[in-house]
Amino acid sequence: MQREHPLKQFYNIIDHGSGEDKMGLIPEFPRIIELEITNHCNFQCIMCKTGTGTAKRKRGYMADETYEKLIREAAGRKIAFKFVGQGEPTLHPRFLEYIKKAKQNGVICHLTTNGSMFDKSFIGQLIDTQIDSVKFSFQGVDREGYMELRGKDDFDHLLEKIGWLYELRGEKEFPYITVATSVTNESKEEIEEFRQKCSRICDNLEIGITTLEFIDLSKIKKKQTHELLAKMKEDQTRKKRRYKCCHQVFDVITLHWNGSINACCADNDDVMVLGNLAENSIQECWNGKKEQAYREILAVNDYEKLPLCKDCYDVYGWTYQGDE
Ligand SMILES: C[S@@+](CC[C@H](N)C(=O)[O-])C[C@H]1O[C@@H](n2cnc3c(N)ncnc32)[C@H](O)[C@@H]1O
Ligand code: SF4
Repeated sequence: MQREHPLKQFYNIIDHGSGEDKMGLIPEFPRIIELEITNHCNFQCIMCKTGTGTAKRKRGYMADETYEKLIREAAGRKIAFKFVGQGEPTLHPRFLEYIKKAKQNGVICHLTTNGSMFDKSFIGQLIDTQIDSVKFSFQGVDREGYMELRGKDDFDHLLEKIGWLYELRGEKEFPYITVATSVTNESKEEIEEFRQKCSRICDNLEIGITTLEFIDLSKIKKKQTHELLAKMKEDQTRKKRRYKCCHQVFDVITLHWNGSINACCADNDDVMVLGNLAENSIQECWNGKKEQAYREILAVNDYEKLPLCKDCYDVYGWTYQGDE
């Protein structure tokens, strides 16, 4: 069956045009809500701020009341929820119910996950929610590379679990299955081998570059790897490259577990807060003065003016293009 990514309809809009073009096309409500139902995580990935414990925000789980309020505002709109954020969404005790609820209200749902909670029973229940899209996160392309950054010997088991989902979904319409990884110095041949392995168990493979900005190098025992990643980290910082146009403030809004409504999905430390769902609506924040001011700054790529944006960069254009 030929499948299309359920969020392609949104990506076709949000990934195109300059900031100035986007200023004339601001939707009345965000097209996508980046939804963090928890920032707790059961992994300690050494390249991630959550994994290394360096993110400053308090940790917690979204309250039902907050989620209900979100659903009331989102119901019936042509929008998508991306269950991602700075933790592991499937750890939220009401994760499956939240997906069901969103789907019942016409919202397209995507999950990005470390896959740790996936067993055959969970997979069956997840398919029953009619979730539209699931993305599994790897780092590296083999057991050793995965273990180095994700700190767990789970590479083969994760591939096995994805295979279960692929098989149990069969010809059903949902979910669309993506495998995503990011690489450092893997060879073309190693990447190709991973691509071959994944082609049998997913609809789409995404390969990016690992951002080393937050990496805890002290956790790397192998001297050679340590030296290599330290050097790559330095190179990445030197070669900082701006996004052509960031879609966050023009098309996307972020909701944190504690109701905080933020302008950017990478706002780990609550620097660009627009409001809180306890007191404000998403609509109000989306159309508010603060968000509008951010848009005006980013429309002319004036990243330096914003505290979070000034340090944000697109590592080598994010998508792996072969040798750079
Ligand atoms: C922060 S995680 C949250 C969701 C979930 N815990 C997971 O690992 O998929 C979201 C995504 O960011 C990616 N990620 C985190 N740190 C990264 C880094 N330094 N470079 C590249 N990707 C990174 C993860 O691989 C994952 O796909
Ligand atoms: S990348 Fe995901 S799984 Fe790894 S520590 Fe960060 S939030 Fe957890």
